[in-house]
Amino acid sequence: MSSQPKVCQVTTWHETNPVPRSELIREVAGKDALYCALTDKVDKEVLDSAGPQLKCVATISVGYDHIDVEECRKRGIRVGFTPDVLTDATAELTLALLLATNRRLFEANKQVYNGGWKSWAPMWMCGQGLKGSRVGLLGFGRIGQEIAARIVPFKPTEITYTTRSLRTKEAAAVNARHVDFDEMLRESDFIVVCCALTPETKEIFNAAAFQKMKPNCILINTARGGVVDQKALYEALKTKRILAAGLDVTTPEPLPLDDPLLKLDNVVILPHIGSADIETRKEMSRITARNILAALAGDKMEAEVKL
Ligand code: DGY
Repeated sequence: MSSQPKVCQVTTWHETNPVPRSELIREVAGKDALYCALTDKVDKEVLDSAGPQLKCVATISVGYDHIDVEECRKRGIRVGFTPDVLTDATAELTLALLLATNRRLFEANKQVYNGGWKSWAPMWMCGQGLKGSRVGLLGFGRIGQEIAARIVPFKPTEITYTTRSLRTKEAAAVNARHVDFDEMLRESDFIVVCCALTPETKEIFNAAAFQKMKPNCILINTARGGVVDQKALYEALKTKRILAAGLDVTTPEPLPLDDPLLKLDNVVILPHIGSADIETRKEMSRITARNILAALAGDKMEAEVKL
């Protein structure tokens, strides 16, 4: 029998910009639960400041690399997150970003406004189609599988995926082949990053990785900026070591206006809007609240990180 609290006292941050860290540290003191976003670093300092009664940290995101989950585990603090609900929205945005990058939509659109559009010309503003290409996915969880399913109708020659363990059944649904990271780098015309940021994946796309990639390769990242060594990416794009990149995530976020990446034509950058469709975000916010209520009642949470 659930004993959900009938009334909760809630302290909220009302601005759209993230809560300043000093405010978070001050206001979390004495609370039983923390409702946070990926912009809030929930580390030892925040947990210490909260105090020993803290029972739950719930994030309105599927990614939880901003939370020190090991520290939560040690303290018996349960961690909630929002997988599944944002899978379709994120897969959809990934395809939009991929198509905007490979067909140079933003670059072409600028030409309409800056006088660059003189006439139709056979090779002007040509991009690299998905048809007949090899597409590699780093990560093949829920989002990766949905991205693959959306790529299939564009008729690639092959979809490959790189993960620690085989996902044979899920891969069969989209006819994807498991490859190691090196083979993905060497063979892919497109690489889509859809893995979590972990110590293992941190800056896995570094200068050495870019060296192995085909010069026509297009890198798409809708996962976490930290998976890519951004300086190395800049060099790879500037020197045409790879063809282009589409990024919905960067380091840092927001990307400073003087970041050199913003000067390049062969990169499309979006402001971390992968899951930003209205219904998805509303449901993410409801799940986060329900996760907290369940944790406070000692019930099963809708989506709990296994610690
Ligand atoms: C997540 O949920 O981790 C996304 O990056 C934002 O929705």
